[in-house]
Amino acid sequence: MNNRDRWRVYKRVCAMFLLAVVAVTVVQRSSINMGAPFELERQARMQKPQTNAWATPEEPKFTDNISPGSWDITSSNCSANLNFSSQAWFQGLEENFRQFLLYRHCRFFPMILNHQEKCTGEIYLLMVIKSVATQHDRREVIRKTWGKEQVINGKRIKTLFLLGKPSNEAERANHQKLVEYEDYIYGDILQWDFLDSFFNLTLKETHFLKWFHTYCPRVQYVFKGDDDVFVSVENIFEFLQDSSHDKNLFIGDVIFKAKPIRKKENKYYIPQALYNKTYYPPYAGGGGFLMHGMLARRLHWAAETLELYPIDDVFLGMCLEALQVTPVKHNAFKTFGLVKNKNSKMNREPCFFKNMIVVHKLLPSDLMHMWYLVNSDLNCSKKVELL
Ligand SMILES: *[C@@H]1O[C@H](CO)[C@@H](O)[C@H](O)[C@H]1NC(C)=O
Ligand SMILES: *[C@@H]1O[C@H](CO)[C@@H](O)[C@H](O)[C@H]1NC(C)=O
Ligand SMILES: *[C@@H]1O[C@H](CO)[C@@H](O)[C@H](O)[C@H]1NC(C)=O
Ligand SMILES: *[C@@H]1O[C@H](CO)[C@@H](O)[C@H](O)[C@H]1NC(C)=O
Ligand SMILES: *[C@@H]1O[C@H](CO)[C@@H](O)[C@H](O)[C@H]1NC(C)=O
Repeated sequence: MNNRDRWRVYKRVCAMFLLAVVAVTVVQRSSINMGAPFELERQARMQKPQTNAWATPEEPKFTDNISPGSWDITSSNCSANLNFSSQAWFQGLEENFRQFLLYRHCRFFPMILNHQEKCTGEIYLLMVIKSVATQHDRREVIRKTWGKEQVINGKRIKTLFLLGKPSNEAERANHQKLVEYEDYIYGDILQWDFLDSFFNLTLKETHFLKWFHTYCPRVQYVFKGDDDVFVSVENIFEFLQDSSHDKNLFIGDVIFKAKPIRKKENKYYIPQALYNKTYYPPYAGGGGFLMHGMLARRLHWAAETLELYPIDDVFLGMCLEALQVTPVKHNAFKTFGLVKNKNSKMNREPCFFKNMIVVHKLLPSDLMHMWYLVNSDLNCSKKVELL
């Protein structure tokens, strides 16, 4: 550790001890939590579910009362799969895809931080948020705003953050202890022994589903999202109470007929060898979506039967397809759109946020400010047009 690092750590520790208003500390922004801006053909109306050649013959019957177990993975010893490493198509791939394929069969890792007590009793809404070790300030703001654990009309809300290991050495050295201390204070971090990298986001998805399946038999709904979004819990409640939802509820910023990106410069580039169909199945932007607890349990099963795919949102879409469940698009989920319109005044319009369920993407300080505005005495009689 050099002096600068030491100073940084010192600042962070102070901030956490004082529980100060977040984030004057060094903000290290990670860019791995962004939704995937595919070449889309957005369709406002839902598509008819395609009758699917996919048979799911062995899907077990899930009941509401699965007895909780425990995390049964104790070793992360998994060696590279060299089965296809001599083949031409493999050698023609970019390095990151070769790495991904070599270790794709390594599906489960041990837990570093666990909270098996989190799901005891009846829980109405479990909020799970993808985060990385360095984003202490984002988690801090979320705990103070939309992620606050509370009981509304007798319905319990619980919150969890999902982390892997910091992907570089310096961050591991500086932040792991802080993450552990943060977890000691708040008890809301699940951490697994895999590196937090872009292609490993799918592991975060599958690990959460397995964890949920193991520990959470009595959670009614799950909200899953990024740590840089605005969420209205009030609107989630209103939506869930408005109508009766079946056990296949899956709602978010759904894209139909997104095409895999074939431009190599793009962050979301996918070579033909990894996916050779024209379109992706319908999937929801990972910035935030809502699903029934029962469906989350079925998704765990589907995720175990499919090969991992490097883009987590798309992977979940593939799992839904395997279950023959079509995700539903709802206009109150804005997980793709706003980035393009950085200057749109919607980005600063509290009445717009008040009508939304999820809006992507906000810095911690902006989130705090917007939360304050939205929850103040707003006069939103003027109709705010949706984007
Ligand atoms: C990990 O696996 C390799 C090959 O399967 C084996 O040779 C090695 O002893 C294992 N290491 C540990 C620590 O289990
Ligand atoms: C590699 O191929 C062998 C023989 O086909 C198979 O048994 C094994 O499971 C494969 N390894 C992986 C990691 O898929
Ligand atoms: C995912 O995490 C595992 C375990 O830490 C690591 O070996 C692997 O390289 C990571 N994969 C990618 C694509 O970063
Ligand atoms: C597409 O990929 C699948 C599975 O990897 C393979 O069976 C099929 O032959 C491929 N189709 C084409 C046209 O390359
Ligand atoms: C809200 O604004 C409208 C029009 O600007 C006004 O007529 C109304 O009285 C305001 N309501 C409150 C509660 O301030």
